[in-house]
Amino acid sequence: MIGNDIAIAIDLLNQNLPVGIPTETVYGLAGNALNEKAIFAIFSAKNRPFFDPLIIHVASIIEAKKYVHNLEGNALKLAQAFWPGPLTLLLPKKDIIPYLVTSGSDKVAIRIPNQKTTLKLLTQINYPLAAPSANPFGYISPTNAKHVQEQLGDKIPYILDGGECKVGIESTIVDCSDEIPKILRLGGLSVVEIEKVLGIRSLVALNNNSNPIAPGQLDKHYSPNKKIQIIENFEDSISVFNNIKIGVLSFGITNLPLSVVEFNLSKSSNMEEAARNLFNYLRQLDNADCDLILTKLLPKEGLGLAINDRLQRASVK
Ligand code: TXA
Ligand code: MG
Repeated sequence: MIGNDIAIAIDLLNQNLPVGIPTETVYGLAGNALNEKAIFAIFSAKNRPFFDPLIIHVASIIEAKKYVHNLEGNALKLAQAFWPGPLTLLLPKKDIIPYLVTSGSDKVAIRIPNQKTTLKLLTQINYPLAAPSANPFGYISPTNAKHVQEQLGDKIPYILDGGECKVGIESTIVDCSDEIPKILRLGGLSVVEIEKVLGIRSLVALNNNSNPIAPGQLDKHYSPNKKIQIIENFEDSISVFNNIKIGVLSFGITNLPLSVVEFNLSKSSNMEEAARNLFNYLRQLDNADCDLILTKLLPKEGLGLAINDRLQRASVK
């Protein structure tokens, strides 16, 4: 059921049942991060393998310090600059966080989401919320309550509606457990902004996909059911595929025949707008009358890097 009653959500969370919650990045599937039964219910609703750890969500830096060590130095600088916001920090966990949340790691991923309803909810409970994206494992992340309903509606009792996600792709994950911070996942906060605050350049040595320290960074992820192919140029490619119904996920000005199903991430080539539309348009193309989705990489700067990362993973079969 979709609704906007925080009290109902809290009542269910207190019973260790998983609840869909809005964040500015994507919708999460939330449960009490201190309770193994609640965490287990999240993994099971998502069909998520236990080697893929969860991010915990809190309302303030003071709260965060109850659950992690070493929220100081670079980590604190980043937290102060970007929280609440699309930034997740990886830090040594305190004992109170169960290993089920971290897939056995001594580090836990933590953030303060920038979403009014969820922040309000978080201030009314006395535990952090573990919340992976609220999609079946491997599929496209949800950016509104209806997306969650469509895919997990029969497995979870409630989805708290906070409207459309304002950022639209997952948080950027920075490992701050060593001297030199490392970006583990590109996301809604661009790397240049992080580098500006830290005064460090070339932070990204990304991103070994099969790297077990970031288990969610699997090659294939964020995938629609249809095949996605990344190409250089739509106009030239369309004729090559003349026996197949093509859907196009485009960016910027295009000149495609009207017969082609086209979803344009941003006609004005605005990266924020593109990030906001990305998962929604991928879903719509997955449900549209076409057999193959063609797309093109965005300029390799700012949020374009994170969007390209998602497109590349979505195109792996
Ligand atoms: O924007 C977001 O981060 C959203 C919203 C709901 O907050 N959440 C999200 O969660 O994207 P999820 O589960 O789809 O991705 C979590 C990823 C894991 O797959 C892994 O790559 C990384 O975060 N992660 C979490 N805990 C970790 C840990 N202890 N060590 C290494 N990586 C971790
Ligand atoms: Mg996810």
